[in-house]
Amino acid sequence: MDARWWQGAALYQLYVRSWQDSDGDGYGDLRGILSRLGYLQWLGVDGIWLSPTMPSPDEDWGYDVSDYRGVHPDLGTMDDLDELIAQAGRRGMRVLLDLVPNHTSTAHPWFVESASSRQSPLRDYYVWADPAPGGGPPNNWLDFTGRSAWRWDDRTGQYYLHNFLAAQADLNWWQPAVHEEFRRVLRFWFDRGVAGFRIDVAHGLYKDALLRDNPPAGQQGPLAGRFGLRSEYNENRPEVHAVYRAWRAIADRYTPPRLLLGETWVGELDRFASFYGADDELQLAFNFPFVFAEFAAADLAAVVAGTLAALPPQGCPVWTASNHDVGRFPSRWCGGDDAKVRLALLVLATLPGTLVLYYGDEIGMTDVGVPLELQQDKMSLGSGQNGSSGEGGQNGGSTDGNGWQGNRDRARTPMQWDGSVAAGFTRAAAPWLPTGDSATVNVADQRDDPGSVLSLCRDLLSLRRAESGGQLASYQPLPAPPGGWAYRAGSLTVLANFSDRPVTCQDPGRPILLSTTGATPAAGDAAGDILLAPWQGIVARTAGVPPAPGRR
Ligand code: GLC
Repeated sequence: MDARWWQGAALYQLYVRSWQDSDGDGYGDLRGILSRLGYLQWLGVDGIWLSPTMPSPDEDWGYDVSDYRGVHPDLGTMDDLDELIAQAGRRGMRVLLDLVPNHTSTAHPWFVESASSRQSPLRDYYVWADPAPGGGPPNNWLDFTGRSAWRWDDRTGQYYLHNFLAAQADLNWWQPAVHEEFRRVLRFWFDRGVAGFRIDVAHGLYKDALLRDNPPAGQQGPLAGRFGLRSEYNENRPEVHAVYRAWRAIADRYTPPRLLLGETWVGELDRFASFYGADDELQLAFNFPFVFAEFAAADLAAVVAGTLAALPPQGCPVWTASNHDVGRFPSRWCGGDDAKVRLALLVLATLPGTLVLYYGDEIGMTDVGVPLELQQDKMSLGSGQNGSSGEGGQNGGSTDGNGWQGNRDRARTPMQWDGSVAAGFTRAAAPWLPTGDSATVNVADQRDDPGSVLSLCRDLLSLRRAESGGQLASYQPLPAPPGGWAYRAGSLTVLANFSDRPVTCQDPGRPILLSTTGATPAAGDAAGDILLAPWQGIVARTAGVPPAPGRR
């Protein structure tokens, strides 16, 4: 079973700077995580994904790496990370790191060398190009702030490419030496016991060899493109699949196999599924059509059915709805409504596959309006997505922006541990980002309350472990009235009411294992019917289907 340990697992994305500060500098760190491992074990997660931990000038908070083999001094030391891997392992939890192969910091020694002269042996590590024939940038590609993705370098008289900030230079994956560098980085961390990587911008890496202009985006929306252009040539190139086949071969050589979980920011389910290859590329890929689906029964059911139909046999879906870019689902999907948050957690935790929670999902933490003067995210600020009327990029603001749909700091605020001023996150006078409403929503209050969102989340994790036991459960939609969604997942039957009215469903039988309202639904008018309250969800054990053998 260890061979596919991520199947049925619950992973927890932890934004290290915001989770727990141990040294009082206002930033979360690795020793802070060590001090809270007991909480994660109590919650019942199988693994944690740490947002970037490598040294970085922090123009993009670690997504601008200056050393792929180190630990950021603000966050701790290599010894701390080794200890975290070991202690988490003793508690039955695996540790994934964030790997950023699309670009490096311009402070990375590779870029410094590459930019030193046109004759540099590392010149081809990055994407350098001459001006367009009439002068100006080589093509129309835009970065994530909406400005040209090309930065002029006076010293060597060429432009370099940066799909993100100018301080994040895109690597040139047409250069075989870049492949070799990253294969070594993979082995370096896998040998240290890292369980796998979340791969940043996994659909990126290769750029069109001819540097052709991007076409206009036909549609609007977070997955359609950026700033009016479809990202056809500056990312999304088919050559990237060979990279993941090579990485998968490396990952599979370890015991247990190491996990490759891609940030595959694509809008079409067949392209999303292509990152699984023939079960020889990524084992897991983030599903953004699901993230951006409407929180409505028919929409979610359609994305789930489409996802499962698109994946190759053995392909394990991964369900997540919040992260450090797109914001928190308790806000985006649920508008802060407690009943909806519970229903969303129930669905996320019962769909077959891997669950990735974002820190704070388990207590229903919502996005936080961060005042402009306290904002830290240069990408949102640069693109005008700062919740103010600030100056925007080429298109003058956030109308069809970079897809994150808002300022990213809103979902990066400190974990709300208790109701104190700094939420139990730090003893510093001011944390690096302001805390949300920790007096109302916090772990301490919810932990011992059996009716809390946290208790529900913990019950769900324990239920999925007991029932699906680390297997990839089967999925079968069941008839449901408008506004309702009913499905069978392995030994479980799930009924969910996504509406403000009671809905009548067929009684799934007994036992009812869990209800988001804590109450058993009332009997319906007809024999064999039950009545779900508005936004109520329940989980029952399907008659005649025993739980799968447990993982542990
Ligand atoms: C990914 C990360 C995001 C980062 C970007 C550039 O989308 O999730 O936070 O800014 O890549 O590395």
